[in-house]
Formats: sequence, C-alpha cells, structure tokens
Amino acid sequence: MKTVVSGIRPTGMLHLGNYFGALKNFVKMQDSFKCFFFIADVHSLTTHPTPNNLQQSVKHVLAEYLALGLDPEKSTIFIQSDLPEVYELYTYMNMNAYLGELERNTTFKEKIRNQPDNINAGLLTYPVLMAVDILIHKADLVPVGKDQEQHLEMTRQFGKRFNRLYENDFFPAPKAFNFGEDLVKVPGLTGQGKMSKSSGEADTIFIFDDPSILKKKIMRAKTDGGPDKPNQKMSPEIANLFDLMNLVSEKSTVEKFREDYNKMTIRYGDFKKQLAEDMEKFVYPLRTQISDILGNTDYLAKVAEIGKEKAKASAQKTIKEVREIIGIKSFN
Ligand code: TYM
Repeated sequence: MKTVVSGIRPTGMLHLGNYFGALKNFVKMQDSFKCFFFIADVHSLTTHPTPNNLQQSVKHVLAEYLALGLDPEKSTIFIQSDLPEVYELYTYMNMNAYLGELERNTTFKEKIRNQPDNINAGLLTYPVLMAVDILIHKADLVPVGKDQEQHLEMTRQFGKRFNRLYENDFFPAPKAFNFGEDLVKVPGLTGQGKMSKSSGEADTIFIFDDPSILKKKIMRAKTDGGPDKPNQKMSPEIANLFDLMNLVSEKSTVEKFREDYNKMTIRYGDFKKQLAEDMEKFVYPLRTQISDILGNTDYLAKVAEIGKEKAKASAQKTIKEVREIIGIKSFN
C-alpha cells in the first residue's frame, strides 16, 4: 500500500486554499492509503509567532482536521514537534543541501521581498525540513496545492542525492498528488494571486469566518467596470470570483452567471450576493463542527497522543536505518 504524508502550517485558522488544495484530498485518501497527516508547528516558527498564538493555532488546526473529516482510526494524525526524529534527520539532510539551490527556491525569494527584516536560516532551509517530514515516513504521495510543487521537486532531489551518496535506494521519490487532476490554486478575493494566510484579511476566506464577515469580504471583493463586448476575456478579479464560485456553487449557478457575463447582462452585486450565500452554505456546517470539537480539549489531547505514538514508530525505524547507512553506529 502506498504511503501518504502531508501537513499544514498552523498560523491561525485554515482558509479555503488549505481546504481545496490539501485537506479535501487528505480526507479522500484515508480509505485507500497508509496516511500520515500532521500540523507543521516547527515550520511556523520561521515567522516568530508568540508561544500562546502558536499553541492556539495548533489546537485550532487539529480541531479543523477532525471536523473536516480526518479520522484518527484511519490516519495517523500528529504534531510535527512531537517527533524529535524529524530534527535529527533535518540535521543530517542539511549536510547535503546546497546554498545555491536553497537560495533559488521561489518561496525563499518571495520571503526576501516580503519580509526583508526576518530572513532567518530556518527560512533558507525550510525545504529541507519539509523534505524530512516526507522522507522520514518514506512517502510515495503528498497531497498539496500548486504552490508546493517546487518543494516536492526539492524533496525528490534531496532523497535522490542521499541515495546516490550512500549507494542505495533508501528513499522513494514522492510525488505531489491531487486525485487525478492538476494541482489546485485557489485565488484570493483581491485578484492579486493565491489565497494565503499572509495576503491579508480582505483577501482570505477562513473556514471559521463568521457569516457577517464572510459576506462583507465577498461583497467588498474588487470587480471591474463590466464587460463592454460579448464574450470578453475576464479580468483577473472577475475570473477569480468565478473560480471561487466553481468551488462552492451548483454548476447551473456558475453557468447562469457565466452566460450573463458573456451576454453583458451580469450584475456584479447579484453575482457576489449569490457567491456569498453559497459560500456561507458551504462553510456553515463546517464551522459548527469545528466549534464543537474545539470545546473538547480532552479528545484533542487524546488524538494527538495516539498520533504521536504511531508516527514515532515509523520515524524511529527510518532514523535507525539512516544512522546505520551514514556510519553513526557503535564500533562492534
Ligand atoms: P501551507 O501551510 O502554506 O499550506 C497548506 C496546504 O494548503 C495548500 N494551499 C493552497 N492550495 C491551493 N490554493 C491556495 N491558495 C493554497 N494555499 C495553501 C498548500 O499547497 C498546502 O498543501 N510547506 C507546507 C507545509 C508542510 C508540508 C510538509 C506539506 C510542511 N511539511 C510536508 C506537505 C508535506 C506549507 O507551508 O503549506
């Protein structure tokens, strides 16, 4: 059976990009694969959250995992920092990761542009830590959104390099995965690019957003002056709103508005009102389930404890073998 590993950084609450790019696949994969799903709290430290925020975010994401359908009986659900083996393999793998390739990573270059005051070494070696999360369980498949494609390429590169250096085929070559389709990129509401935790409140729809906030965000989303000829190519703002509608609305609804757009009869106010309504219908039950689970701290602690034990067994096996391979072993 193929092994699956994936994780999400806990920085507050999950947004629609996390859900449609990753979590939806996690849930679907549980029945057919050996799955490890974790909360990447160590990766979050690159942005220096307060201890309290970090802890609250981990708890929130765990509740969201469970509320949205991850099942601790089927999958191993754990917290990254519960596996010190990850830190150990990270140290070893850093010896074979080269400055040039780390500096060329697109996400790192973006960070240099967007947060020039905090370019720490953890950001530079972020792809190594991510590779370790995957390689330590010898994963074959990694369900992620499109933005993680390059990290997966680097993961394969690091694994292959290790195999070559020590003349074996120890690590498999993991592939990014999205149920038979292209990897997903969910756009933000402002038309600037992908939805993300750092692109600002107005851009991002959180699954846990309050209905009034959700509606406000959508009604405020930027539009353009409207089409001025039939079948006109859409501006990025409008195309993004259609992409979002595609995720949560009935096909017939999307088609109706697309036709209105092509015939130049679309009214953006009605279009956004419909999108807000359908979005609300989609997130409402999820939000309620998350609240319920968040209140049950004992259950969350139990799930994390069970996941830790199962993930540890897998990680310890790999670390033991890696130590042997690289020559960290006793004399006799
Ligand atoms: P993170 O926390 O930024 O995002 C978590 C997952 O959500 C996906 N995602 C999106 N997909 C489509 N459209 C969007 N707008 C969008 N925004 C986010 C991401 O592609 C990702 O799958 N480095 C990872 C966390 C990580 C990890 C790993 C993932 C650490 N170790 C090992 C897989 C395997 C990250 O920062 O994702």
